[in-house]
Amino acid sequence: MTDPVTAWRRLAGGCVLLDGFHALKHALRFGAEVPVAVTADRAAALALADDLAPDVRAALDALLAEVPYDAYASLVPRPHPTAVAALAVRPAREANLRALARMPRTAPVVVLDQPRNLGNAGAVVRLAAGFGATGVVTTGPLDPWHPTVVRGGAGLHFATAVERLEVGELPPGPLFALDPEGEDIRGLKLPDDALLAFGSERSGLSAALRARADHLVALPMRPQVSSYNLATSVAMALFHWSAGGGAPV
Ligand SMILES: C[S@@+](CC[C@H](N)C(=O)[O-])C[C@H]1O[C@@H](n2cnc3c(N)ncnc32)[C@H](O)[C@@H]1O
Repeated sequence: MTDPVTAWRRLAGGCVLLDGFHALKHALRFGAEVPVAVTADRAAALALADDLAPDVRAALDALLAEVPYDAYASLVPRPHPTAVAALAVRPAREANLRALARMPRTAPVVVLDQPRNLGNAGAVVRLAAGFGATGVVTTGPLDPWHPTVVRGGAGLHFATAVERLEVGELPPGPLFALDPEGEDIRGLKLPDDALLAFGSERSGLSAALRARADHLVALPMRPQVSSYNLATSVAMALFHWSAGGGAPV
């Protein structure tokens, strides 16, 4: 049997890093393929599973290989307090594109137009997973599978379809673009097949995205305030959609 550190070094370049117990727990829950998982303290990791994730305890028991702390620390950019790390196979782009385009759609697709901040993108993936959104699409240069985004997403990239696309390639569906100058969201019902688009932290919605938009929608905000944070805006819009009766169960 290949030792886990050698297996890790062989696979690391082509896989997604799951940093910490909670990222691994979420990825397993949502069906990620995990070829290698290591911990510096197997007993502590399994005790966490007993406490917080009995549903994936057996999978963790089968997967987790104990390695010396220094070996674990050499595999990750920064050791995690749980001393757990794993590598997961990134879902095929074709499968994600099929999921994003599938109609009828029962939950919106979140579109981040030219986002800049990796932490915001991770927080949005986590929100999309929590609300059962169909997926998260980014436009522009940010890689939504960047390790920092995956860390911010807490392993929940496997619970929704995450891909980068051009504005001209967006999936079908009515596009509701969020902008402080739009129509008050409180008077609208967001349909399940909506694309909910949000602009970049620096400059808001791009001209290309605005041209594709069917509706401009505003979140309630006092006049002296310029805008909300990107991930916060996504949270409010998804909450508004869910309050109309959409997922979660
Ligand atoms: C930090 S804001 C962008 C601020 C940017 N300086 C601008 O010129 O718009 C990021 C995105 O969050 C959404 N957003 C923020 N506040 C909003 C509001 N009150 N109503 C609707 N969308 C909002 C928009 O999609 C916006 O493009």
